[in-house]
Amino acid sequence: MNSDETRKPFPLRPEPVTADETPDPVHQNSDMKEVAARLMAGALLLITDTYSTGLAVLSELKKQVFGRRKSESVEMGGEDFQDYRTRRAAFRQASNRLLVPVEQNRIALRKSPDIGWLRELYPDIQNFLLPFPQIQGLNSSWQWFLKGVRFPVLKHEIYPWYGTYFPTRFDHLKLFDEWLIKYQGRKERALDIGAGCGVLSFQLLKHGFRHIIATDINPNAVITVRENARHQGVQDRLDVYMSDLFMIWKDEDEDGKKADLIVLNPPWLPADEDTGMLDRAIYYEPGLFDRFFADAGDHLVDEGKLVVLFSNLGHTTGIGEGHPVENELARFKRFRKVRLLQRKVDGPSRKTRRPDHRKDEFVELWVLEKY
Ligand SMILES: C[S@@+](CC[C@H](N)C(=O)[O-])C[C@H]1O[C@@H](n2cnc3c(N)ncnc32)[C@H](O)[C@@H]1O
Repeated sequence: MNSDETRKPFPLRPEPVTADETPDPVHQNSDMKEVAARLMAGALLLITDTYSTGLAVLSELKKQVFGRRKSESVEMGGEDFQDYRTRRAAFRQASNRLLVPVEQNRIALRKSPDIGWLRELYPDIQNFLLPFPQIQGLNSSWQWFLKGVRFPVLKHEIYPWYGTYFPTRFDHLKLFDEWLIKYQGRKERALDIGAGCGVLSFQLLKHGFRHIIATDINPNAVITVRENARHQGVQDRLDVYMSDLFMIWKDEDEDGKKADLIVLNPPWLPADEDTGMLDRAIYYEPGLFDRFFADAGDHLVDEGKLVVLFSNLGHTTGIGEGHPVENELARFKRFRKVRLLQRKVDGPSRKTRRPDHRKDEFVELWVLEKY
């Protein structure tokens, strides 16, 4: 395969908003209750003075969507997760109608952060409008990119591009590390499917795998893994392709190039609506696991191992329909279970405002072999 085919995928970025008419202005003296209500009713509004006006509007909007008491309460443990998702979707839609002006690739508001992504991701346009929440996302992503993310299983940071998934909890990474320490099989070639920021690929390299091939459907993840591999000087041992699961190899004769190990850390929750690319790191689409298991065997040597990291989060939130790995094992004779390792997840921090569905959560490491 010619790796230049996918060398420079065009990165994902928040889409600039095009408005037919100039959106009405919002400033610090606006009536925030009215502003929030207008956003809920579908109006596009433009912040015209300082960055903090955007924060004030979002704070008021949050009260209107979630209710004052709930938005301030630390514990939402009893609230139904579906209801929470619905409100969150309403909040997301309304807040994305609050716009920020960008001029010469900088935010044209007083007291705004400098966000390098506005230059890096928009080389083709200088002046445009972006939703305030997208600006916030770009800002925190830029901070992570500058600082790098540290993982307890790696000796180096990973610098994730905007829009690239990286784990903020590490139980499943530790589980994978523990399993890799004991792994006795061949270490010639491994595939990391849905690589995200590439943390599992770097773990595989750390444990002596000679060649890793990572894939992800998200172009920014591909850029992240590629740039970080270069940064670590391992670009000869870590290839990365933009691919829907194993699609990149669809027309190839893979005989003799099968992997000793395939690892997948998929999204852990089923999607309930049309998921955007960024959500595809968190929510899996119908049929994803079926497609994965149907093809995985063709890319694995006979004695190779298929490792799937998963969690019972779908079960504890009540939104998963069955367990995708258990379903696969029960329905087909493509793989058999060799081991299942589990690890309890630490509960959320006391300050979190999210529903506490993680208190009974386990992460799982499934080891499967071909029949
Ligand atoms: C939960 S994240 C895991 C990332 C990384 N492996 C880790 O353990 O941190 C899932 C990743 O799978 C990717 N993904 C989702 N659907 C995919 C597909 N059909 N083909 C390839 N990658 C996919 C997402 O873009 C995301 O990066």
